[in-house]
Amino acid sequence: MTPFSMDDLMFRPGLMSGERILITGGGTGLGKVMAEACLMLGATVYICGRRGGVVEASARELMDAHGGRCVGLACDIRVPEAIEAMLDQIWADGGALTGLVNNAAGNFISRTEDLSPRAFDAIANIVFRGTFFVTQGCGKRWIAEGQKASVVSILTTWIWNGGPFTVPSAMSKAAVATMSQSLAVEWGSHGIRFNNIAPGPFPTEGMSARLNPGGEGQERSNAYGDMSANPMGRVGDMRELANLAVYLLHPLSAYVNGQTIAIDGAAWQATGGNFSRLRAWGDAEWKAARDSIQRTNEKDRAQRTV
Ligand code: COA
Repeated sequence: MTPFSMDDLMFRPGLMSGERILITGGGTGLGKVMAEACLMLGATVYICGRRGGVVEASARELMDAHGGRCVGLACDIRVPEAIEAMLDQIWADGGALTGLVNNAAGNFISRTEDLSPRAFDAIANIVFRGTFFVTQGCGKRWIAEGQKASVVSILTTWIWNGGPFTVPSAMSKAAVATMSQSLAVEWGSHGIRFNNIAPGPFPTEGMSARLNPGGEGQERSNAYGDMSANPMGRVGDMRELANLAVYLLHPLSAYVNGQTIAIDGAAWQATGGNFSRLRAWGDAEWKAARDSIQRTNEKDRAQRTV
């Protein structure tokens, strides 16, 4: 990823100074892009992920490009005790967070009848359970301290129309949408607010390997479908996502609470924005996809430090 310059951001330098933001899954992909924008605008940024080497290298890379303070923390959000330890470490490092981005996720395409209990848990334990425990861990600290905060969760448009062939992810993200709506009301009086971003196709390495296994340009349908069917005729630009996240994290958007904003070029209204086209796949395509996804998972596992 090319580092951003200030021309890529719609905000003034220093906009986020004094803000302290945690981005889960912030070492790669969309999380890293949002971390970069917050850092450039003066926030102290914490990024966590299961691969300690990856989050530390990303934090270093972002600081080398932009200065400021970005801290990489190894944490598996499937483990509530690990979340608590990480939050204690962050709070001891300079006080309360002012913002949280629930970005960490896992997903892969599969026929639902092929999913084992472990496969379901691999997704749900990150997205459904992990997101709850990170949010709750931050929330109880914020409430005890009277600290206002903004929580932004990265969802998907499948929360509205379903996610065929990505059912554990679609179910888990829909549950997170419900969490956000519930807590927007329950914790609104504490000044803690909740909004969601539902990105459409923003190609990242993790997404491509698991939602478009085998590579783009192949004959079979891919994660992004046919971009000429997207009303905007293209995939998302990372700058667009980063600017939206900054807006929702900043205190001047404080009256925006309990909302979900899609950023997909209106793809889901036009095309459904999901994997319904994979109904055309047969056994051979699914076997090839599964083999490719499992090779990616094995490579990733080898890098994990927690
Ligand atoms: N189809 C069906 N089942 C599959 C599968 C596939 N394509 N890929 C994995 N599984 C099953 C495995 O067979 C295993 O179940 P089993 O033990 O009963 O056989 C289970 O899922 C767990 O697989 P494993 O390879 O151990 O996965 P993992 O826990 O190491 O990793 C994720 C799975 C989702 C957590 C991993 O891909 C990840 O960390 N992803 C994060 C990044 C990401 O997904 N980005 C894309 C977001 S769009």
